[in-house]
Amino acid sequence: MAHRIGVIGGDGIGPDVIAEGLKVIAATGVAVDTVDYDLGGARYLRDGVVLPDETIDEWRHLDALYLGAVGTPDVPPGVIERGLLLKMRFDLDLYVNHRPFLYPPSDIDFVVVRENTEGLYAGAGGNLKKGTPDEVAVQESINTRKGVERCLRYAFEYTRKRNKRKNLTLCGKTNVLTYAFDLWERAFHEIGDADYSDIKRDYAHVDAMTMWFVKNPEWFDVIVTDNMFGDIITDLGAMLQGGMGIAAGGNLNPEGTSMFEPIGGSAPKYTGQNVINPLAAICSGALMLETIGEDEAAKAIEDTVISVTREKIKDLGAGRMGYSTTEVGDLVASAL
Ligand code: IPM
Ligand code: MN
Repeated sequence: MAHRIGVIGGDGIGPDVIAEGLKVIAATGVAVDTVDYDLGGARYLRDGVVLPDETIDEWRHLDALYLGAVGTPDVPPGVIERGLLLKMRFDLDLYVNHRPFLYPPSDIDFVVVRENTEGLYAGAGGNLKKGTPDEVAVQESINTRKGVERCLRYAFEYTRKRNKRKNLTLCGKTNVLTYAFDLWERAFHEIGDADYSDIKRDYAHVDAMTMWFVKNPEWFDVIVTDNMFGDIITDLGAMLQGGMGIAAGGNLNPEGTSMFEPIGGSAPKYTGQNVINPLAAICSGALMLETIGEDEAAKAIEDTVISVTREKIKDLGAGRMGYSTTEVGDLVASAL
């Protein structure tokens, strides 16, 4: 039976890269039935709709969601981010943000497992006396044992399944954030001691992590971290790998409907120019296929992207690839 996939092309270059991703999925022979959802900044400007609860309920019955990018410069910051992306993460409980960094031309090969529903993103806090000289703003990082533990367990399991260096690095800030990362660190070692003696464990403070990323990125296998640090280090990971053009991601609820997206955003200035690299969307499509049980097709896409980036597309940047968006999709689809 065909997999039922909800497609949110979104804004800017989103729909264009998703079209290439779907083209590549079709070339693998995996049958998908797509359901389109018109959401994002443009939709919000048109009729004020961001993400209705009924839509979320429909999504619970789908096999996966495939999203291009959402956001337009003329919508105030936060409306689409909180109202759509974060609402999806929270309401569908997409508690892991899985971001691989393993494609040529670089020779790095690691995956960041970012906690995706708690921390500074939880929205806890508030303000007092706004707009006065006595204004107070508080934004708290929420870390629950349950939330931390399920993310860590996913990371341990994935490190085992990945079966490479079997090394899991916790990235935190135990020297300053002595409540939050004390919980993370204790849970990390308790779970590791109890159930994952085959996985080596190490630790890096987030500031040092950015240094190691630049200095010795080949050291890492799987990295697990909280929501905010994961947001920051994955942009750096993307640049190490060759740019946003190949940065893929999966927002996972291993027990529910997961969402897959390139992490680069809507890049409004490139809208309609056919210059953006669709490999990030294509690789996100591969992650989606892996998650819905189509491992063989996922592996085929991954291998093809590796050979295409090794042999043909050496510069992944928009306008510098030497290929248009649609040509890259064609190249991968025909090589499959
Ligand atoms: C990401 C993005 C989002 C985040 C924004 C757009 C809400 O930067 O997916 O990394 O901060 O998580
Ligand atoms: Mn980000």
